[in-house]
Amino acid sequence: MKNAKKIFIKTYGCQMNVFDTERILESLVHEGYDPVESSDDADLILLNTCHIREKAAEKVYSELGRYKKLKLNNPNLKVGVVGCVAQAEGAELMARQPLVDLVVGPQVYHRLPDLLKKISTGERVVDTDFPVEDKFKILARDTEKKRAPSAFLTVQEGCDKFCAFCVVPYTRGAEVSRSVEQLVLEARSLSEKGVIELTLLGQNVNAYRGLGPDGKYWTLASLMSKILEIKELKRIRFTTSHPRDMSNDLIEMFGNEEKLMPFLHLPVQSGSNKILKAMNRGHTSETYTKLIGRIRGVRPDIAISGDFIVGFPGETEADFQETMKICDKVKYSQAFSFKYSARPGTPAADKSEVNELEKSDRLARLQDTLRKSQQDFQKKMIGSIQPILIEKIGKKEGQVIGKSPYLQPVFLNASISSIGKILPVKIEESRTNGLSGSEVEISL
Ligand code: 5AD
Ligand code: SF4
Repeated sequence: MKNAKKIFIKTYGCQMNVFDTERILESLVHEGYDPVESSDDADLILLNTCHIREKAAEKVYSELGRYKKLKLNNPNLKVGVVGCVAQAEGAELMARQPLVDLVVGPQVYHRLPDLLKKISTGERVVDTDFPVEDKFKILARDTEKKRAPSAFLTVQEGCDKFCAFCVVPYTRGAEVSRSVEQLVLEARSLSEKGVIELTLLGQNVNAYRGLGPDGKYWTLASLMSKILEIKELKRIRFTTSHPRDMSNDLIEMFGNEEKLMPFLHLPVQSGSNKILKAMNRGHTSETYTKLIGRIRGVRPDIAISGDFIVGFPGETEADFQETMKICDKVKYSQAFSFKYSARPGTPAADKSEVNELEKSDRLARLQDTLRKSQQDFQKKMIGSIQPILIEKIGKKEGQVIGKSPYLQPVFLNASISSIGKILPVKIEESRTNGLSGSEVEISL
């Protein structure tokens, strides 16, 4: 009997790519593929790529370069590029890197089994359609496997906001929400496999408007309420949100649904109204901070996370200082910050750029402030007892790693059997990338 073909997928970028990789693997396992841990052992390598910044896209080409040797050693090896670089570059990608056999955009992963059959005959194939059929209905979920306690579930894809710097509306297309019924079914199936924390994903997740069983379009808050009828699910989160779509029902839910974790990733990008306008963000620094105030009004302890871009075209030192001010006001518990990277095809791409040294200097200053803000948030937690969801074994003997309600990793000593449980943990120390503590004997 012929051995099963071995597949290796390397994933770049956001959590949605992580989710997509899982689904691709599951559907290809049904086709007889065997996942392996290293590209060296594979018969099929897929790179699930990210196009958000130039660096992310360039990584793909340098990785592909490394596969030349592998192809020489294994003439049957097939190499595919999926994800947002595939969508953005299509056939150009093949022209630039001749060893690529397959280029597939994020909307057609359900066609992968057929496309793989095509390339097995030596054909090179590009598919970057935005089809009418629903890929999620077709991509099979693995029915047997036990799951880690925390899982992602994509509820919405695409973006209609068109921020001037961003490729997402082009690579992921228009906003599309999945139906309530389908999502509840999937959430139930995940909970049956041991999942107790679910993170709902979408590029603009709070713009979710999915068809409900009553024929009406439901909001993210109503979807979450329905999903939380599943008793085994103890925690729910959602990401990423846009400040323009923080509706009242969603804000209120932070105050009245204790399974909704007190954490909100709400990118602001800049604190300068001039830059926010040029970015086409549709909010000002004041409407953003006011919104945070309203959310803290219903959930005072909520952890706010953000995304920032420094050096957007036209950003002066005074504009940058406005960004520093917003950090001071919001007191982020964590944040991601990036140097502006011009992306071909986006409205900001041909504007004249802030020089690189200035960008690097601003990024260093911003990251310093954000690091301090994160440490302040974490240090305030020392001495408190937090319900920690234990997720995996740590690197040190006897150590496990869990997650706090505020999305911080927490390191502690506990038995492996605690994985999947929520333990009361006294926080003792704030570290660079999380907290450490000890289990205490109280009931939560
Ligand atoms: N340059 C730099 N950062 C970007 N982001 C999106 N596009 C760009 C770009 N062209 C950042 C934004 C976004 C996050 C996912 O990536 O901060 O929120
Ligand atoms: Fe990109 Fe803006 Fe849409 Fe976020 S809201 S995905 S930054 S266009």
